[in-house]
Amino acid sequence: MARLDVTETFQNILFPGHMHTQDSLNYATNFKFQDTDTVIVSYPKSGTTWMQEIITLVLSKGDPTIAQTQPNWARAPWLEQYYCPKVLEASKGPRVITTHLPYHLLAPALQDSKAKVIYVSRNPKDVVVSYYHFHKMANFLPDPGSFSEFLSAFLKGTVHYGSWFDHVKGWASHVNFLYITYEEMWQDLHGSLEKVSRYLMCSLTEDELTSAQKYCSFNSMKENAMVNYTLIPQEIMDHSKGKFMRKGKIGDWKNIFAEEQSDHFDAVYSSQMADASLQFKWECHEHVLQPRITVNTPASHSLRDI
Ligand code: A3P
Repeated sequence: MARLDVTETFQNILFPGHMHTQDSLNYATNFKFQDTDTVIVSYPKSGTTWMQEIITLVLSKGDPTIAQTQPNWARAPWLEQYYCPKVLEASKGPRVITTHLPYHLLAPALQDSKAKVIYVSRNPKDVVVSYYHFHKMANFLPDPGSFSEFLSAFLKGTVHYGSWFDHVKGWASHVNFLYITYEEMWQDLHGSLEKVSRYLMCSLTEDELTSAQKYCSFNSMKENAMVNYTLIPQEIMDHSKGKFMRKGKIGDWKNIFAEEQSDHFDAVYSSQMADASLQFKWECHEHVLQPRITVNTPASHSLRDI
């Protein structure tokens, strides 16, 4: 499939036609989850690939063989992408499935399912910067224009995969899932691996955790062709225009946002998130770049600081 210039519109949300068709999107929204499934959910550029690697390494108890021999899309396929049924048919053992779909499109399929859902989110200012750079190298996404134009489309929710705000707010209403942020993984990768392993009920020894941590570090993943997308032909992802494993930092937004753009973002954020059941405080201390994120989880969960 090439269809690099095709955009699929499904339920008023745009998807790149390169990987999505009406059939593939219908397949996803009518999917029969199994109770043994693990589902990684994220808005693009929030740390999806990182979580795919974390889960692969947790399930293989820190052994990097699978992580270094199977592309991420073959071990944790995107549910809404056209090749997913083939990958799942061939898979043996518990399935790991990835999705960028908003909650309202997947909620009916997940209803009554005991599949384990892991939702990964990231400071949306860093998401928009990462997404902007990704648009420049990914030929299946439209030309992003200037950063200012892209930012405006992101805030309106007219970019591919829809509104970040709707995505985060929608998934916050799901019950019984593991909520984790890019910032938490960045600040405490070891603790994040432990958290994921507890949730998946797959305990690792200290040595196994240390090995897993090594292989899902940014530097290791940057060199791993199974996750850095260098296997993708140049006409689809132009690596001369940027790297998929670009910076892997928190707070990079400060290098591109003008002050008024940041103020405008904050205003839109406040109004969009006023009715959210999760409240984030994306805070970075200037020099150490350590985020303090306060998460008010939905009523069934307790308030926690991560
Ligand atoms: P940047 O563009 O800011 O560098 P996704 O997988 O959801 O598309 O997210 C991609 C973003 O996650 C990119 O961000 C990428 O560099 C970052 N990333 C991937 N693996 C990472 C890791 N091990 N540590 C830190 N960041 C990582």
